[in-house]
Amino acid sequence: MRPKHIIGLIFLSAFLILFVAACKAPPPEPLYIPPDDLVPIKQAYFQLGLIELVPDDMPMPEIPLNPTQADLGEMPYYQICMSCHGNWGQGLTDEWREIGFVEDMDCWQSKCHASNHPPEGFEFPRYAPPLLGQRTMPTIENAEQLYTIIYETMPWWKPGSLSIEDSLALTAYLMRARGELPVGVVLTESNLAAFDLGNPAPQVVDEKPGAITLIVFLAIGMFSFIWKKQ
Ligand code: HEC
Repeated sequence: MRPKHIIGLIFLSAFLILFVAACKAPPPEPLYIPPDDLVPIKQAYFQLGLIELVPDDMPMPEIPLNPTQADLGEMPYYQICMSCHGNWGQGLTDEWREIGFVEDMDCWQSKCHASNHPPEGFEFPRYAPPLLGQRTMPTIENAEQLYTIIYETMPWWKPGSLSIEDSLALTAYLMRARGELPVGVVLTESNLAAFDLGNPAPQVVDEKPGAITLIVFLAIGMFSFIWKKQ
């Protein structure tokens, strides 16, 4: 092989590597990285695709300065939904009752939330479904259905009390935690039906058009230079 061809080959490989690098967007950072000493039940949750939404000591969420729509769902989830659906979206499991209710664990047997509850109380459900993890929410097919359930039927004790904004933010919050919300998407009442549940969000490919055009021009220049010299 002539030296000219070898140089050409080196250029070609460099060009291909640059091209692939420019096409590939960095993968989104995982929302939750489990600590090494995660307790066994949480390890099992994690295997099923659940993640920690709120740590077990339940600190108030800190909302970032420029929150995304999903970030805005964190506070209403913490204040309204977590009591029944858990700090890992695990639902009303025995494990969540022990962490979340401590002395109140048997609340629904006492007068506060049993069917003989006082007017300001409500009957506490014995079961609330998990919202995170594979094969959960099996009858909900897309973001529109999820939103409608939240907006019209939740919270369980006061259906229809959530605003449209909070319901959209909660939908985005849950879908992001489930890995189903494409990066950068803002849910609106008109685009909801386009986003499926039960499938991971498609990888967003950032095409960086400027960088690609530059590389293509460089490559054309390089090849015409080599060809002319032959
Ligand atoms: C007092 C307990 C309670 C609270 C608080 C509560 N939920 Fe629920 N949630 C339930 C119960 C019980 C069900 C099951 C209802 C049914 O099957 O009829 C449910 C069902 C759901 C479902 C449907 C799950 C499925 O598998 O189809 C979603 C989504 C949901 N809740 C979201 C929320 C959100 C978001 C909030 C906060 C705004 C919230 N819930 C607050 C008790 C609660």
